[in-house]
Amino acid sequence: MISFNPVSEATAPGKIILFGEHAVVYGRPAIAAPISQLRAKATITHSSSNNCYIIAPDLDRHDRLQDLPDDDALALAARLVLDAAQIWQIPDVTIRVNSQIPIASGMGSGAAIAAAIIRALAQHLNRPELQTNERVSRLTYEVEKIHHGTPSGIDNTVVAYEQPIYFVRQSPQNQIEPFHVAAPLRFVVADTGVRSSTRVAVGDVRRQYNEQPARFANIFDECGRIAKVARQAIEAGDIAQVGKLMTENHAWLQKMTVSSPELDRLVEAALQAGASGAKLSGAGRGGNMIALVGDEGMETAVRHALQQAGATNVLTTILT
Ligand code: PMV
Repeated sequence: MISFNPVSEATAPGKIILFGEHAVVYGRPAIAAPISQLRAKATITHSSSNNCYIIAPDLDRHDRLQDLPDDDALALAARLVLDAAQIWQIPDVTIRVNSQIPIASGMGSGAAIAAAIIRALAQHLNRPELQTNERVSRLTYEVEKIHHGTPSGIDNTVVAYEQPIYFVRQSPQNQIEPFHVAAPLRFVVADTGVRSSTRVAVGDVRRQYNEQPARFANIFDECGRIAKVARQAIEAGDIAQVGKLMTENHAWLQKMTVSSPELDRLVEAALQAGASGAKLSGAGRGGNMIALVGDEGMETAVRHALQQAGATNVLTTILT
């Protein structure tokens, strides 16, 4: 006899990539951190309709699970949990999803929504072994394949563990290392307003890598080196060095062709306004950029400059 929790709720955060996006797909180290104030939430309630409904008003979705195709990300998140729990009959539940994380903007919205559904459904089914960070991360990774094609695994890891992570994609097991942030890092995060597909950007980098393997391997090496040194700088509380490395990383991302005029404009505006460093964050070609600011005075100036330069949304997150 299976017992179900009447109402189950779980949330997962958005994320930013501080160092090493794209290169991380090719086994170089990268650093990511959660944005805890932006969250996706899944709520599971019993449904009297003899069906499983997935309702996501932010995504304009109201569907029956059984009607959704295999490659539907929300449906896959639910099915993965049911399979792992060895439940073969679809339960009578409503899965309601709400998210504050903008989609297709490099903030891990897809991973956070999947992680929230997985945790909430596992909780509803009374399956604590499916709610560990490791298990949630692994199941979320399966959903990420729909969004990304060949995901590195960094997004699912950081949203499931919800802490700053130093990450290296490798087999048989990824290197996942939480690390110490010696001095708080204050980031201004600004949205270009341009939506961009991670799958397209990642596919484009793959194509260029195949055409120019030596050149791109060198670019990836440089990004990996930067991520390694940046971790030491973060652990030492050397904010000036962290900022310098971010701006350097942005230059390598430009060479990968994943920046855009809008991203470059925001990065330039932040630096002009006194930011310690700035770069695009995530897959690029649109989405968000991040700027490191030393104190509240600098934060105000940088936020203002970003708005003037056309940012559609600006927020601050502090990494401790
Ligand atoms: O989905 P985004 O925009 O957060 O980008 C993910 C980061 C990439 O390195 C570009 C892809 C990956 O799987 O790591």
